[in-house]
Amino acid sequence: MLSKKKKANENEAVSTTYANRFFTKPIPRFRMPNDGLDADVVYQMIHDELNIDGNPALNLATFVTTWMEPQAEKLIVETLNKNLVDQDEYPQTGKIQERVINMLARLYHAPESKEYIGTATIGSSEAIMLGLLAHKWTWRANRKKQGKSTQNPNMVIGADVHVVWEKFARYFDVEMRIIPMQKNRFTITADEVKQRIDENTICVGVVMGTTFTGQLDPVQDINTMLEEVEKEKGWNIPIHVDGASGGFILPFLYPAFKWDFRLSHVRSINVSGHKYGLVYPGVGWLIMRDKSDLPEDLIFYVNYLGSEEATYTLNFSRGSAMMIVQYYNLIRLGKKGYRLVMQQSLENARYLASKVRRIRNIRLITEDIKLPILALTVKKKSEFTVFQMSDKLRERGWIVPAYSLPADASEVEVLRVVIKENFSHDMADMLVTDMQRFAKELREQCKIKPGQQNKSQNHKHIC
Ligand SMILES: Cc1ncc(COP(=O)(O)O)c(C=O)c1O
Repeated sequence: MLSKKKKANENEAVSTTYANRFFTKPIPRFRMPNDGLDADVVYQMIHDELNIDGNPALNLATFVTTWMEPQAEKLIVETLNKNLVDQDEYPQTGKIQERVINMLARLYHAPESKEYIGTATIGSSEAIMLGLLAHKWTWRANRKKQGKSTQNPNMVIGADVHVVWEKFARYFDVEMRIIPMQKNRFTITADEVKQRIDENTICVGVVMGTTFTGQLDPVQDINTMLEEVEKEKGWNIPIHVDGASGGFILPFLYPAFKWDFRLSHVRSINVSGHKYGLVYPGVGWLIMRDKSDLPEDLIFYVNYLGSEEATYTLNFSRGSAMMIVQYYNLIRLGKKGYRLVMQQSLENARYLASKVRRIRNIRLITEDIKLPILALTVKKKSEFTVFQMSDKLRERGWIVPAYSLPADASEVEVLRVVIKENFSHDMADMLVTDMQRFAKELREQCKIKPGQQNKSQNHKHIC
């Protein structure tokens, strides 16, 4: 989050609490105080202030893990003070990272005949940036070899991509060719991709579990199309798969489904360890199919930490705790354990879907629920909007975001529920009961004041 300048006057202070029991003067809110305070006091003050945050257990908005086993938490505390980049000082931590990358590359069927390569990142955003940078560099090197212009790189993506793809395009000067959504289609198609690619396309972005609706882009069709284009025109265009969510679900729920390195044009995959990898924020992973997909001049070798180390990250220092507990999860759960977690989450999502369907005027965006993510919408004729339902649920503590889809589907308004491991049948029942009650209440309000705008909402109220 970008933070702005704030006034730092006397009125902007954190006032004293506990009847001056611990501290007697207000503490400036936006200026560093001259004197420090007792550790217990500061702890209590910050602890209390954070109570106003939402309850992570009821946060159905986030894809990010909100519960881990106590043993994992113990490891986190034990490794909080280890910088992941200090591989010379913490060689074992480095070895663990290597093991995880190998496990993931094999999970994603990286060909054993190749030398796959990967790195731990802060999350999928960094992993996507690094993957796309590698494709930009490879494209440029190839163009130079052919004596062709390197002025106008582009990438083809759907409007269903996460904002990080757009950030990459802007920060790293790549033209974005965006396939808009349609009123009834929220993913991309191979045909639409084909219309936009050319010899300057550094890569095609494909999402496994879109942020907006949790759907899967048709990666196999796109791969087949790119194979044909390569035969016809000689353009070897890579696919980067954004598996931020799906990367830890698909291998366990649908092992036969080919979305990964089994497809010839998939050259790089990112996944968020802190989403369905079941780790607290922030850890992500980038896996490249072969080391030839990562141009050597993007790798930096530094020796100021002891021995020479190769790095391919945007940040230098970062904590190692989350990377370590990724390893904990992989060996603690194994494939069988991950499968059970994903099956249970999917079952709970489907159970919730079956109940939600019965609420008047609420429907699912898609009946085909492949990942434990539900996108709901409210029928046009309904007396309330998704935004009002989201606000009402928030009053009860549930955090369920409401938003409108990107162009050209912006008239579709969505409520998204991300089902995680800690979401039970019981919670589904409670959520549905609350939604039913609120739907009724909102309808009643509508009856009382026909034709009136609800002034407390920014969003249009239909009654
Ligand atoms: C499809 C997709 N890609 C990328 C991201 C960014 O991931 P991260 O938050 O791990 O940086 C998200 C986050 O929700 C996502 O859903």
